[in-house]
Amino acid sequence: MGDEARRPMLGGEVDAVVAARGGGLRERLARVEERLRTIAAEAAPPLDGHAGATIAAGGKRLRPLLVLLAGGEPAVGVDDAGLVRAAVAVELIHSATLVHDDVLDAAPLRRGRPTVWATHGRAAATATGDYLFARAFGELVDNGRADEIRILSDASSALAAGELLQREDAFRTDVTLERYLHRCELKTARLFEAACRLGALETGAPDEDLGAFGRRIGLAFQLLDDVLDVSGPVERTGKPRGTDLLDGTVTLPFILARELDPSLRDAARPETPDEAEALCDRIAASGALDDARARALEIVAEAKREMPAPDAALLLVADSVVERYS
Ligand code: IPE
Ligand code: IPE
Ligand code: MG
Ligand code: MG
Repeated sequence: MGDEARRPMLGGEVDAVVAARGGGLRERLARVEERLRTIAAEAAPPLDGHAGATIAAGGKRLRPLLVLLAGGEPAVGVDDAGLVRAAVAVELIHSATLVHDDVLDAAPLRRGRPTVWATHGRAAATATGDYLFARAFGELVDNGRADEIRILSDASSALAAGELLQREDAFRTDVTLERYLHRCELKTARLFEAACRLGALETGAPDEDLGAFGRRIGLAFQLLDDVLDVSGPVERTGKPRGTDLLDGTVTLPFILARELDPSLRDAARPETPDEAEALCDRIAASGALDDARARALEIVAEAKREMPAPDAALLLVADSVVERYS
């Protein structure tokens, strides 16, 4: 686990995005960070420590960036506090989900650091996620908009449904492509969509169009995350290859590989990290990773193509989703 694994996807690219958009973007991103830290610190001990560690570990902050970008540059003199609150709320939901996801996945590491689950157990991780989740809605309430609350609530409900679907499908050999894509829509794409819609709503931009962009980017993002689990390398992902396979999470590479190489249909369930690695090699040998990458790239291309008013900064974000994996 080196710094490489912690490297934000948008590390260098954030500068390019900020340069493309200019205006108050960088300052707004800094306010989002500050507010996240404050909210974590406001938790009662020991939750403040767990929430603080989760926030301090960083992450790419891709979703709040999307909120701010979708919101555009508010006119001089127009209060942008609502935009920043929306960005904070979306990142809090995302962080809450990850803390809970690590319980479900029994994950030792997150953002290059030991998870709350690993260091303090299930109860602490559940409570930390609950706190971050609750504060997300508390933050958004101050925007005084029922439509925003509804969008975030719907995305959060979708996330929960997606996580549950993943558990239900664990180790099943009959997970179809459609069902897999539906799961990714629920657990990832919908929050990306919400991020873009909230930003747009705060500044009166067309929220449905930007939402569709976010949803596509989110879907591609999850597909590529799933490719990375099989392709590695570990220096890049910070976790052993095949972690999803060991967990029983049936993802796109495995679904496609079973079609390309029928002998994989009867592949034994991997029980050890070595067996998971070996299965990763077989999946890679089938050509499924290239196929999966190509599908994700096509979704990103569609997102860019369908953008109503091409925006340089958002196009850069779309490209950065792809570049992380190329
Ligand atoms: C991780 O999301 C969960 C997925 C949807 C794959 P990110 O990769 O955006 O997580 P952080 O916030 O950068 O840690
Ligand atoms: C992403 O799923 C978590 C959610 C979107 C809820 P993963 O389980 O694939 O994410 P990582 O790989 O743990 O970051
Ligand atoms: Mg996980
Ligand atoms: Mg994953």
